[in-house]
Amino acid sequence: MTILLVKSGGPGAIEEWRAAFATVRPDLDVRWWDDPSVDPLAVRYALVWAPEPGRLKTYPNLRLVISSGAGVDHLAGDTMLPDVPIVRLGAPEAVWRMREYVALSVLHLHRLWHRFAANQRARVWDELPNPEAPERRVGVMGLGQLGAAALDALRPFGFPLSGWSRSPKALPGVRCFADMRGLKPFLAQCDILVCLLPATPETNGILNAETFAALPRGASVVNAARGSLLVEADLLAALDSGHLEAAVLDVFETEPLPPDSPLWLHPCITITPHVASFPGRPARARFAAEVITAFEAGRALPNLFDPKRGY
Ligand code: NAP
Ligand code: GLV
Repeated sequence: MTILLVKSGGPGAIEEWRAAFATVRPDLDVRWWDDPSVDPLAVRYALVWAPEPGRLKTYPNLRLVISSGAGVDHLAGDTMLPDVPIVRLGAPEAVWRMREYVALSVLHLHRLWHRFAANQRARVWDELPNPEAPERRVGVMGLGQLGAAALDALRPFGFPLSGWSRSPKALPGVRCFADMRGLKPFLAQCDILVCLLPATPETNGILNAETFAALPRGASVVNAARGSLLVEADLLAALDSGHLEAAVLDVFETEPLPPDSPLWLHPCITITPHVASFPGRPARARFAAEVITAFEAGRALPNLFDPKRGY
């Protein structure tokens, strides 16, 4: 039988992975990453999250790697990756989850929910006037599968929408900006900035003091990408100076966020524990099975990781 090696969710998750694959690709022999009975020569496919660097290279007959998440920064640092296609997670459920998360976060910031929450705790009745959607410009950094879907989810609310990516894009109803030349003009017109960029050397620390200074006064920020993109001290300084209004953060430089982090109790920060878009194992198994079937049929694969771009 063809072995699919799984490293995602810990050894305790393997029974759930097996059950999930049994319904979509019962022919696959689904094994845990550290199963000592696995013959390395029989491993054809791997579904992984943060494998030890160099380990994938030890399977001479490995044909295809699927990342258990949409981000591939957990693989990109491996300097000994095998020369096989690496597919980023692209399950529809992952996209739906991010759409929900971005819509919820943007509405939260737009309607000043963080202030109402603080006022509730203080028993303060204050209507807090705030602009209507056409006066609240929302910009998304990263126009890939998640950024484009997030903009779709925001469209019905009537916010003026914009987006920023590496290469030029055309999205209906979205003012598109590209590359470093487009960054400052993009930022200058974002009242709510949503970050959905991949973690690469170019994006490392991109949410920094200079970026925040380029946003209009009173802007807010959502980071649902990776913690390495945000300079946490710069965010705190921009919030404390009053230049920024609020932030919603799902991802952090150190996860879990340490108990002594000043982010936890900041009144203008809403924290979620890296849950913006992580679909269940059955959804990920369905996506992986479809990718394996496409690969076996010689069809084009979706969401290919490009080591040169780093995402
Ligand atoms: P994707 O399809 O690869 O899209 C990435 C987008 O970012 C593309 O539009 C790309 O531009 C743009 N980009 C990359 N580098 C850039 C740069 N240096 N300057 C400007 N734009 C740049 O990725 P995705 O599937 O949408 O996922 C995005 C990220 O979300 C993932 O990498 C991951 O870190 C994060 N994520 C977080 C969660 C969570 O639960 N919090 C869940 C899933 C994913 P081009 O279009 O020109 O290539
Ligand atoms: C989660 O963070 C992912 O990359 O899918």
